[in-house]
Amino acid sequence: MSFAVGLQCRACGKQQALAPVHVCAECLGPLEVRYDYEALRRSVRPADVAGGPATMWRYAALLPLPPDVPVVDLGTGFTPLLRAENLGRALGLHKLYIKNDAVNPSYSFKDRVVGVAVSAAIGFGYHTLACASTGNLAASVAAHAAKASLESYVFIPADLEPAKIVGTAVYGTNLVAVRGSYDQVNRLCSEIADAFPWAFVNINLRPFYAEGSKTLAYETAEQLGWRAPDHVVVPIAGGSVLSKIGKGLAELRALDWIPAGRTRISGAQAEGCAPVSRAVLSGADHVTPVRANTIAKSLAIGNPADGDFALRTIRDSGGSAEMASDAEIAEGMRLLASTEGVFTETAGGVTVACARKLARSGRIDPDETVVLYITGNGLKTLDAVAAGLGDAPVIEPTLAAFETIRAGAVA
Ligand SMILES: Cc1ncc(COP(=O)(O)O)c(C=O)c1O
Ligand SMILES: [Zn+2]
Repeated sequence: MSFAVGLQCRACGKQQALAPVHVCAECLGPLEVRYDYEALRRSVRPADVAGGPATMWRYAALLPLPPDVPVVDLGTGFTPLLRAENLGRALGLHKLYIKNDAVNPSYSFKDRVVGVAVSAAIGFGYHTLACASTGNLAASVAAHAAKASLESYVFIPADLEPAKIVGTAVYGTNLVAVRGSYDQVNRLCSEIADAFPWAFVNINLRPFYAEGSKTLAYETAEQLGWRAPDHVVVPIAGGSVLSKIGKGLAELRALDWIPAGRTRISGAQAEGCAPVSRAVLSGADHVTPVRANTIAKSLAIGNPADGDFALRTIRDSGGSAEMASDAEIAEGMRLLASTEGVFTETAGGVTVACARKLARSGRIDPDETVVLYITGNGLKTLDAVAAGLGDAPVIEPTLAAFETIRAGAVA
């Protein structure tokens, strides 16, 4: 059972009933879901969660799920929190973990947000699911629409990685490739959302969608034995997942499910699209939009919808931010794969590369318990690392041929 009771404006505080809207009627500020935490505290305990399914749905009480609508369950979440000793040695961090969200059903953390949004869409009576996407949301919306037998429209920039295009089209969606940047795709989708009665998961259903990311924080705390990490590093595109990891940890503290304390939240962006990191590092009060140009296409949002919230979450937590060049992103992907056996896409390369910079500069303390959020799968962005790996030697099927190249390799 969900304890969501309404929506509230993040700017002026005005409250309203749960509805498929994302901006406040008074001030046009963004809306967010409100819960009855007192009722929740009385009826749900961590042990109840631990007895739930091994998916994100064990946290249904803390998500805005409509009554009488079964969740569209692809088996999302409760992904591994892995102790990363090898990577920790490389970065000089003694208690490093990675939250491996690359193993979700459509291979990114976006299944968490879409899982919540699709339930809300069905609850509000929609028949068509839609989104503007930098690639990962596309696959997740298409997959959930397939499972829920809904029609779907997915809008992407035309220059996306081929694996993300194939990995979306395969679910049988109406895929529309737009000649333009993500920011242009998003603007177009806002117009389409006004003209068509569709559930755009990251536009009119954004307050519901965004809540799904809180489960990353809940699971991390539960997997650490109901304890929050000292420091987390989170990739930023629109700024939603970073803000919601902050909200999720704050909720667990308010419920007394984890001890009081502080988790520093640091942001990771690509140098070619770092509006939030630049604002953090320059001491600015607001995020200034940029034109994106990076191999980390999943993070290429120049005008982040939740940029100012991400900035505030980072500042209030005592965290910091960094940015990684294209070469550092590829190196970050190789480093994670070669130390921990986890193949992440470019967004994960950004996170690893930025964590390295934060550690080197002393902004992450070597003795902190640190969690890096690895949010997408490396098979989606093969080209980012392929060039640097070289070709495998091709040999005749004989022992002699193998011994020849082996001798060369050890010489
Ligand atoms: C793999 C991956 N990681 C992180 C993000 C960032 O999410 P947000 O837009 O909530 O900042 C995205 C967004 O598309 C993504 O695809
Ligand atoms: Zn308002």
